[in-house]
Amino acid sequence: MSTGDGHRSADSGTEPMIRLEGLEKSFPGSDEPAVRSLSIDVPRGEIAVLVGPSGCGKTTTLRLINRLIEPTGGRIILEGEDVTHADPDALRRRIGYVIQQIGLFPHMTIAENIATVPQMLGWKEIDARVDELLELVGMEPRTYRHRYPRELSGGQSQRIGVARALAADPPVLLMDEPFGAIDPITRERLQDEFLRLQSEVQKTVVFVTHDIDEAVKLGDRIALLRTGGILAQYDPPERLLISPADDFVAEFIGAGARVKGLRLVAVADVELPRCATGAPGDAPDRVLARLRETGRDYAILLDAEGRPRSWVSEAELAHNGRSLEGLGEAVGSTVGIADTLHQALDALLASGSGATPVVDGEGRYEGVVDLATLVEAVAAMRANGGGAAGERARAPGGTQGER
Ligand SMILES: Nc1ncnc2c1ncn2[C@@H]1O[C@H](COP(=O)(O)OP(=O)(O)OP(=O)(O)O)[C@@H](O)[C@H]1O
Ligand SMILES: [Mg+2]
Repeated sequence: MSTGDGHRSADSGTEPMIRLEGLEKSFPGSDEPAVRSLSIDVPRGEIAVLVGPSGCGKTTTLRLINRLIEPTGGRIILEGEDVTHADPDALRRRIGYVIQQIGLFPHMTIAENIATVPQMLGWKEIDARVDELLELVGMEPRTYRHRYPRELSGGQSQRIGVARALAADPPVLLMDEPFGAIDPITRERLQDEFLRLQSEVQKTVVFVTHDIDEAVKLGDRIALLRTGGILAQYDPPERLLISPADDFVAEFIGAGARVKGLRLVAVADVELPRCATGAPGDAPDRVLARLRETGRDYAILLDAEGRPRSWVSEAELAHNGRSLEGLGEAVGSTVGIADTLHQALDALLASGSGATPVVDGEGRYEGVVDLATLVEAVAAMRANGGGAAGERARAPGGTQGER
């Protein structure tokens, strides 16, 4: 998975992993095609998300890519090779598939489910591979290896579905609403795990959802389809949010596109306004002098380790000549330098003050985020035509410059 859309010049000229060229599917007996002249490129190691209303052709597109159904027009190119008419069985070995509603085999154990494809391919040391995959998706092999699908929660089943699709280590992964029928909290967790997993396995993924927030969170690029399998827009999430191609896209994204855009920028990527600070040994009048230079109403007092401890006002500093000891009001929420501006907004609203301190991995003061920081970041996104204001904020380490 790469970060930093609009910074992909290193990729230009290299072959996309998946190229769909004018792909069409008309089902027999139906007047309207389910997928119409669909052309998209998915670069190696990226996640392309297909999103759109129910019945717009998302599942059909996935099934065309791995030739579970045959296209009625167009071409499918995999790593530069036209596979439109290639042997479908051989093709599917290169493509993992997580189907809508998981589809684990109920009469097989978890280990047998995961081992399906390696078994078919006659692999050796399948047990070790199964354990490795269980570890990879965060499930303790000893506990889960011998269970049956009915003995798992929905979220656990989803993870097994992913493990099974990864079993033969295919370069391409097709995922059809893998986190569809799951409560929002577990879903967030599975999404985070999936991004972490993807940063390790670096597959080229086509991911289907009808949830635009999920698309924005997971996608390097988003293909928004309208009914009839017509591509409305194919762009990085920033661009989709900030420059929707037409009314359909704008409506599908819904209100709050700019707030959603804040998820794509890390605190580390914006310039943080400075605030006056005071260390434990400082004299109050020195902190006061610094505070007046910043033009703010409050300074931040740090503890001996440099962690934000309290907010102190100009008046309080002016009336306490001797020491900073015990001054100010405890700092409530802070935000991490690696967090997103969306998380910063949340912390800002939770803090009830005009600014939230930003801290590094050890909790040490780095600066503050205030409303102006967020306003500027959104303006920068718009000025870039939806290109990221900074690198994309992605929880578990991206892989800039790799491949
Ligand atoms: N085997 C089939 N025969 C005839 N029509 C089909 C077949 N499979 C899908 N369709 C039609 O093709 C269109 C697209 O279906 P598809 O399953 O791709 O939608 P989808 O975008 O995945 O929807 P959802 O979000 O509900 O899963 C629909 O109108 C559907 O009725
Ligand atoms: Mg579907």
